[in-house]
Amino acid sequence: MISDDIVDALLDQLNHEFQSANLYLAMSAYCSHTDFNGAAAWLRTQYEEEQLHALKIYDYLIDQDVHVVLGAMAAPATEFGSLLQVFQASLEHERAMTARLNELSDMALKHKDHATYNLLQWFVNEQVEEEATVSEIIAKLRLVKDDGYGLLMVDNELGTRTNVQI
Ligand SMILES: [Fe+2]
Ligand SMILES: [Fe+2]
Repeated sequence: MISDDIVDALLDQLNHEFQSANLYLAMSAYCSHTDFNGAAAWLRTQYEEEQLHALKIYDYLIDQDVHVVLGAMAAPATEFGSLLQVFQASLEHERAMTARLNELSDMALKHKDHATYNLLQWFVNEQVEEEATVSEIIAKLRLVKDDGYGLLMVDNELGTRTNVQI
């Protein structure tokens, strides 16, 4: 039996995963608008991935016989600056999500809720990968700075990301 505190915390995380999805779609829209179509495609895939994260929590709660109630969401930002700033905002966001998931894991352990803890460890591991991927993109963008050809190369490379991997 899952405790009410854990249910509330997971519903909140579910909401944050959907907000995360919305943020990436807003970033994708911004990159399309600023003609970085490769980055736009990458961010759109990330949008889909975050939706799958939300649904992973959703499915877990359904399996735990919880009535899943969806909450309101704040509108994401609309302007993100340079391509480097887009991915810096992504990294900052992912780090905040990692901190949330670590706190949630602590909470699950405190409640001796090993099923929820196990679910959360999947997310904790996923965050390591996401932060590493975004950091790598940031490193490349730092390297090319404002060089048009370099930015074009990075954008093209980002456009090769195809499938959602979770
Ligand atoms: Fe996520
Ligand atoms: Fe993420």
